[in-house]
Amino acid sequence: MAKVKHLLSVLDLSDKELLAILKRAEEFKSNLGKKKRYEPLYGKSLAMLFTKPSTRTRISFETAMTQLGGHAIYLDQHRSQLERRETIEDTGKTISRYVDALVARFHEHEKIEKLARNSRVPVINGLTDLLHPCQTISDLFTIREKKGRLEGLKLAYVGDGNNVCNSLLLSCSKAGVNISVANPKGYEPDATIVKNAKEKAEEKGTKLGIITDPNEAVLETDVIYTDAIVSMGQKGRERRLKDFREYQVDAELMKKAKKDVIFMHCLPAHRGEEVSAEIIDGPHSVVFDQAENRLHVQKAILEEVM
Ligand code: CP
Ligand code: NVA
Repeated sequence: MAKVKHLLSVLDLSDKELLAILKRAEEFKSNLGKKKRYEPLYGKSLAMLFTKPSTRTRISFETAMTQLGGHAIYLDQHRSQLERRETIEDTGKTISRYVDALVARFHEHEKIEKLARNSRVPVINGLTDLLHPCQTISDLFTIREKKGRLEGLKLAYVGDGNNVCNSLLLSCSKAGVNISVANPKGYEPDATIVKNAKEKAEEKGTKLGIITDPNEAVLETDVIYTDAIVSMGQKGRERRLKDFREYQVDAELMKKAKKDVIFMHCLPAHRGEEVSAEIIDGPHSVVFDQAENRLHVQKAILEEVM
């Protein structure tokens, strides 16, 4: 099979490609509302295979396809043979003969890798238990939009060392953003991802720290980011809520960051768990601009891979 460019991790993009996506997304956003038709994906189809729920990722990809002149087909495990009566290999080999690209949201990261190995067309990661690259590429866009630059800024991630945390480590290190992660013991990000991100940070001359104290992580930070304590499919909710008691982003924690700090969250959010209502609904929060930007960035991603 000819080599196809997949986007399973931010590391699949060169630094130049990443910056090109951010720049293109800026153009898409500034053209918003202008009536001129721009349909580079006319006649093209995107298959979306989701075995976990989604609001933002699904709608932003589907709308992006429509606005660029193409078409998206959404499939879940209940209305297709996926996960029940057909292997990932056969699914990839079949679907990639119909469409021009695939977006997949699976639990196991190995599954999306298998899908990519069996696809003739690009596969984009719409979230796995390990990574959520489209989210954090879009987050870089939001940070740059709010702060005017990326290099030299500091982002503090407070919470679970999950898919979003892993992808932030890679994205920030790649884009020259210093990152400090605070997780409770036992909830650290993936060790291989941390190693890869550290190599990237070293190359870029940025700082990367994984610590346990949220108060230390947020010192002098430009961005505070958090995510759900219980991600999709995770068990042990009561235990987790207990273990994360000291990790809520609240007014007291925000006070320790820079005065003009912004608060980010990939959403869906759980007020009173990982963040207080006062903060997510307060003046420092940019979460709905962050959600909107998924659309502009998805367009740039689709244009790049298709
Ligand atoms: N942030 C994000 O990916 O949201 P959805 O799960 O709604 O797609
Ligand atoms: N970490 C969260 C992200 C949701 C967009 C989850 O996997 O459920």
